[in-house]
Amino acid sequence: MERLDKIISNRTGISRKDAKAAISAGKVTVSGKIIRSSDFKVGENDEIFLGCNKISGNAHIYIVLNKPKGYVSATEDPEQKTVIELVPPELFRNGIFPAGRLDKDTTGLMIITDDGDFAHRILAPKKHVPKKYAVTIDLPVTDEMEKGFSEGIELSDGICKSAKLLKTGDFTCEVTLSEGRYHQIKRMFGCFGAKVTELHRLSMGGFCLPENLLPGECRELTNEELALIESKVNE
Ligand code: URA
Repeated sequence: MERLDKIISNRTGISRKDAKAAISAGKVTVSGKIIRSSDFKVGENDEIFLGCNKISGNAHIYIVLNKPKGYVSATEDPEQKTVIELVPPELFRNGIFPAGRLDKDTTGLMIITDDGDFAHRILAPKKHVPKKYAVTIDLPVTDEMEKGFSEGIELSDGICKSAKLLKTGDFTCEVTLSEGRYHQIKRMFGCFGAKVTELHRLSMGGFCLPENLLPGECRELTNEELALIESKVNE
């Protein structure tokens, strides 16, 4: 059981002082009742509202973002916009971070969480959680690329694990990786002299980017979706 002011501060990013002020001003309800004492102990199943914003009650938060171009996958950056800035106040918590990196110009499925163990599980190469990308390149997609990806491309930091390339058009394909090295897809195509012009992550494990989530939008994952990420799919 945690104190109400601490939960509000942690989960919204406002200071403890501001959380206390909001509570004593009667702006906070716990399971439908206005609570004015900051040290009120919140139960696991209590629903907390700050004004009309619901504060997530789970121990950890798991957010899916449809990452737009122009945002870096970091919690802070002195010059550039970060994916964390796209998280709305009602989902924000201290300690959230992007679970895995997408390049600044890459779009699509990104998970943001404050659960380090979960992030490790979905990112660790040993766990083989497949990540599927839609790719557009500046040259025609060839059988050699498909063969090379499947056999394992040699990059400067070692041979890549076998990756699946499915041609979807002359210049487009879907690539499924089970590891996540720096600029991996761009470097893999670079071995064939091709430049990636568009890169969009479609899925992680068995979870696909929801079609109704517009670029820049976030929402909390359901427990079923969370389980899908860790479920292995047969590619
Ligand atoms: N591979 C890349 O080159 N960039 C990404 O953002 C993701 C995978």
